[in-house]
Amino acid sequence: LQTLPPVQLAEKYFQIFPEERDPLWQNPCHDKRHKDIWSKEKTCDRLPKFLVIGPQKTGTTALHAFLTLHPAITSSFPSPVTFEEVQFFNGPNYQRGIDWYMDFFPFPSNASTDFMFEKSANYFDTEVTPKRAAALLPRAKILAVLINPADRAYSWYQHQRAHQDPAALNYTFHQVVTAGASSPPEVLYLRRRCLGPGAYATHLERWLRHYQPSQLLVVDGVLLRSNPAVVMEGVQKFLGVTPLYNYTQALTYDDSKGFWCQKVDGGRSKCLGKSKGRKYPDMTPETRSFLTEHFREHNMDLLRLLNRLGQTLPGWLREELQSSR
Ligand code: A3P
Repeated sequence: LQTLPPVQLAEKYFQIFPEERDPLWQNPCHDKRHKDIWSKEKTCDRLPKFLVIGPQKTGTTALHAFLTLHPAITSSFPSPVTFEEVQFFNGPNYQRGIDWYMDFFPFPSNASTDFMFEKSANYFDTEVTPKRAAALLPRAKILAVLINPADRAYSWYQHQRAHQDPAALNYTFHQVVTAGASSPPEVLYLRRRCLGPGAYATHLERWLRHYQPSQLLVVDGVLLRSNPAVVMEGVQKFLGVTPLYNYTQALTYDDSKGFWCQKVDGGRSKCLGKSKGRKYPDMTPETRSFLTEHFREHNMDLLRLLNRLGQTLPGWLREELQSSR
């Protein structure tokens, strides 16, 4: 039996198995062989029990903020690299490995009753994410927040305008969503970012190739905005977290913000920052009809998917499908 020094051995290994250059991290404690070589100083408990996967602009920050008010729920530490979100499974951070990921989570005081989570809103529609997430977190629960995809697209366009994206500043929303193949690449790119994530059923089906239906909850983002206490009750039941926290007492409607916010001492409220709940003109009826038509089949697919899963249909989905008949 022959062997080689470590680096040469690794080179030889990847010559034989080139497809394994791309890692797929698994929980070291789920396999005895891995556990045996996992440092005694490390644990496998610094991993989330659930993920808020997005998509962007549906109310994921509000859901994150409300969840962290719960005494048994702890979020990941904010990342200085990716502006708060960890964004591990979807991109280059994945190559940094699971120690890097685990460092975003505290040591739980009680691994069975503490619920740690992270919210990275672009997990929802990134091709590689569900497979990677399921490899490391096979028992995790997955929360997706959905609003009318037309409104999501418009909110994203407004977000890009606020970030001085030239395509969003120089083209109207209607021009962006109706752009054809001959349009400038930056407009087509913005169009893709507005419309792509809204093909909700396609993205959810990808998650369901790696997770059981019972692990996935679709949260109605419109209801989360108008009546968060009701939504948070459903979320807690789905997660199986105790005690049942009373959000009716914890939240208050802030008239000047126009949104629900955290109730703090002295009857005051603590709301999300300026970039959440922006003020902008309504979408034109012309663009709305265009998008209703654009998303009709996708929304039909979502309806069938939610019926198959036995999940409550969001009010916005019923309304949208009625209006697009
Ligand atoms: P707008 O700013 O376009 O209104 P995300 O956090 O996923 O990026 O979503 C942002 C959206 O969350 C906001 O989009 C806003 O409509 C919505 N939202 C829902 N509940 C909210 C709340 N309590 N406070 C602020 N924004 C909220």
